[in-house]
Amino acid sequence: LSERVNVEITVNGEPRRGEADARQLLADFLRDDLGLTGTHLGCEHGVCGACTVRVNGQPARSCLMLTAQADGLDIQTVEGLASGAELHPVQEAFNEFHALQCGYCTSGFLITAVALLEAKPDASEDEVREELSSVLCRCTGYQNVLTAVLAARDRMKREENWR
Ligand code: FES
Ligand code: FES
Repeated sequence: LSERVNVEITVNGEPRRGEADARQLLADFLRDDLGLTGTHLGCEHGVCGACTVRVNGQPARSCLMLTAQADGLDIQTVEGLASGAELHPVQEAFNEFHALQCGYCTSGFLITAVALLEAKPDASEDEVREELSSVLCRCTGYQNVLTAVLAARDRMKREENWR
C-alpha cells in the first residue's frame, strides 16, 4: 500500500492543494493532477531537460523531484509565462526566430531561458549558451534557439517595463 501525502504548492501564482502518492514525481503531479501538460517528460532521469520548471525561481528537473518535496514551494511552468494573451518576450522570440520544430524540448528551453534572463539580464552569449546546454533538442540544431534567446535578452533590456 503506498503512502499518501497532502501538499499545498503555489503553481503559476495560484495555491494548489493535492493528495499525492509519496513517490509521485512532480512532473506527474503537474501533468496528470493539474492538467499542465506543457511540461514534458523525455528521459525521466535528469538528462534531457524537457521537464524543466522553476522551483522558487530556479530551473529544476521535475522528473527528479517528488511532489512531496515541492510542498510549500513556488513552481512556475511554461503555462505561467504568458500574461493573458500576451506572450513572454522569450516566447515571442521563439516564434519569430523559428526556434522550435516538434516542440518537445521547448518548454524546457523557455523556462531555462526566462530564469536566466530574470536573474541575469546582461547574460553574455557564452552564459546563454552554457545555460541552454542543459536542455537537449533532437530537431533544431540549437542555433535558432540561441538566436531567439539573445534577441529576447536585448528586447527585455530595451523595454525594462515589458511586463
Ligand atoms: S524528463 Fe526530466 S530531464 Fe529528461
Ligand atoms: S524541437 Fe523537437 S526536440 Fe527540440
